[in-house]
Amino acid sequence: MAQKKVNVTIHSQEKLAEGIYSMWLNAPEMAKEAKPGQFIAVYTNDSSRLLPRPISICETDKENGRLRIVYRIAGAGTLEFSGYGAGDALNIMGPLGNGFTLKNKKAFLIGGGIGIPPMLELAKHLECEKYAILGYRDSATFLADEIGKYAEVVIASEDGSVGTKGKVIDAIREKGLKADVIYACGPTPMLKALKAYAAENGIECWISLEEKMACGIGACLGCVCHTKEVDEHSNVRNKRICKDGPVFLADDVELLSADEQRERIAGGCMCGTVKESAVKNTADSRNTAGVYLDAVKNTANRGKED
Ligand code: FES
Repeated sequence: MAQKKVNVTIHSQEKLAEGIYSMWLNAPEMAKEAKPGQFIAVYTNDSSRLLPRPISICETDKENGRLRIVYRIAGAGTLEFSGYGAGDALNIMGPLGNGFTLKNKKAFLIGGGIGIPPMLELAKHLECEKYAILGYRDSATFLADEIGKYAEVVIASEDGSVGTKGKVIDAIREKGLKADVIYACGPTPMLKALKAYAAENGIECWISLEEKMACGIGACLGCVCHTKEVDEHSNVRNKRICKDGPVFLADDVELLSADEQRERIAGGCMCGTVKESAVKNTADSRNTAGVYLDAVKNTANRGKED
């Protein structure tokens, strides 16, 4: 379904931890459609910032027509969001992306840092034996209690203040946990470690990739990742994280660090192959050229939080 920007009001907002905010939005249509693992694009009200911020859907409340996002302040855009309260309005677009494929198998739901929020909605939907393995920096274990209502929670913290000291993979090994399918969202090093762990142990592994995004609807190729197979849309070994993902089978995608990704882009073998002409055609047809051309320029700024 074609997505369009809609103006919604904020139902409520609260701070969950330092720099981490939870916002409920009055968005009945989106709440009705949203699936675990999808995201929305949230636009700032500052006209000098045209591009939206992609934020995972943490939870939906279909009965009351609301959806929830939990985000970390990472720059001026998200700082602006954190200043809003009940009744304030925001433009959003969504739900976007494909979401998780739900399997009825013993599952690990693994979230690292700001990759934890989508695990709440996923935990609510999965009707199987499941562990939620959550990785934090320290003892600010936001959402752990809420996820604990739907899954057995295991925590890892980098500073060792709570749970296993180290990463989620350390917690899995320390506790001797086993599963038949993994669903994960978080930073690339965590996803790389899980991909290797899943391959070693023959476990099906679905990962949700995080990337700076521009159009959010598959038009600008500002969010591509490298894949095993040739993509029908771009005819190269790329997939658009916003449209084809953000959830992929781990085996199907190559996980690059931010530096490796910049090198690929500079080498012209990822989104750099598309350039402004392709984007402009799409942009003209949507009569939103400014946004899309800015999207291309923004690609050069990937890795810079805002
Ligand atoms: Fe994914 Fe534009 S942000 S194609």
